[in-house]
Amino acid sequence: MKTCILAIESSCDDTSAAVIADGVLRSNVTARQKIHEKYGGVIPEAASRKHQLNIVPVVSEALESAGLTMNELHAVAVTIGPGLIGSLMVGVSYAKGLSLALDIPLIAVHHMQAHVLAHFIEEPRPRFPFLCLTVSGGHTQIVLVREDLSMEVLGQTLDDAAGEAYDKTAKLLGLPYPGGPLIDELAAKGDGSRFQFPRASVPGLNYSFSGVKTAVMYFLRERLKDDPDFIEKNIHDLAASIQEAINDALLQKLKRAVKESGIREVALAGGVSANSGLRSKAARWAEKEGLNLYIPKIEYSTDNGAMIAMAAHFKYQKGDFAPLDITPEARLSI
Ligand code: KG4
Ligand code: ZN
Repeated sequence: MKTCILAIESSCDDTSAAVIADGVLRSNVTARQKIHEKYGGVIPEAASRKHQLNIVPVVSEALESAGLTMNELHAVAVTIGPGLIGSLMVGVSYAKGLSLALDIPLIAVHHMQAHVLAHFIEEPRPRFPFLCLTVSGGHTQIVLVREDLSMEVLGQTLDDAAGEAYDKTAKLLGLPYPGGPLIDELAAKGDGSRFQFPRASVPGLNYSFSGVKTAVMYFLRERLKDDPDFIEKNIHDLAASIQEAINDALLQKLKRAVKESGIREVALAGGVSANSGLRSKAARWAEKEGLNLYIPKIEYSTDNGAMIAMAAHFKYQKGDFAPLDITPEARLSI
C-alpha cells in the first residue's frame, strides 16, 4: 500500500493543500487571497481570517482530486514556520486536529526547506550537494544543500528580501500588491539599462535590498517635480531597470558562491524565481559557465502545498514526526 500524506501550507497569504503518495504528487490546490491587493501588502489579521475560511474547502478539493478520503491518509504535514504567526496557527491547528482525530503522525515542515525541496517534485532533480538561491517575499538566501534535509545558509539578506524590494518599488510605481509579477510583465517591454539603480555592496554572500527602494523613491520624487506623468510615460523602462538592479544583485552573489564552493549544480527557488528576467539571466550565465541550472515550474516557485508535501515525504521516510504540543514559529532558521 502506498504511503499517502496530506500537506498544508498557510504561512503567508495563500492557503494551499497537497497530497503526495510514495513521493509522487497527486494533487496541489491553492486559494489565493485577493484582499491584500488594495492595501499594498499582506494584512496579517485579514490573512488568518481568510485561511480560516479557505482551509476546509482547499483540503477537501486536494483530497478529492487525489481520489482519496481522509481515512486513507498515513500522515498530515504542515508548515511550522517561518511566517506570519496568525496565518501559521490556522494550518497548524487544523493539522493537529486531523492528526489527533485520525490517529496519524504530524509532520512539521520548515517553509524555506520546502521551497528548496520543490526541486524534487519533478524531473530533472538536482544532485547533492547543490547551491540554491531561495528568493521569496520574506527571505533571500543562498543555501548549501548537502542532502534532502541537511542544509546550511551561506548568505542572506541583512534587511529587505528580494520579493519585498520588488513589491515595495512596485508600490512606488502605483502598482497593487504583490507587485513582483506586475514588474515582470511591464519589464518585458522595457529597457533595463535606461535608469541606473544601485546594487548594494555588502560583505560575503549576504545581500541588502533596502537601498533600491530608497533610491527609486528619491529618483521618482525628483522626476515627478518636473513631470507629473513621468511614471506613466516611462513605466516599462522603470520596471525593467528596477528588475535589472534586483536580479543583477541576486546573481552577483550566487556567482561568487559557485566560485568559492566549486559546486556546479545550481538551483533557484521561491516566489521571485518566477521572474522571467531572473530565469533568463540565470540560464544565460549557466550556459556560459557550463553549470547545471534547475528552476521549478512557476506553480512550485510561489507558495504551494506541493513543496510542503515533498518535504514531508522525506521526513516521513526518516520517521521525523512532531509532537502535538508543537507551536508555530515566526522566525525559524534552516
Ligand atoms: O515564495 P513566495 O510565494 O512567498 C513567500 O514565501 O514570501 O514569494 C512571494 C514573492 C512576492 O514578493 C512576489 O512579488 C514575488 O515573490 N514574485 C515575483 C514574481 N512572482 C512572484 N517577483 C518578481 N517577478 C515575478 N514574476
Ligand atoms: Zn514562500
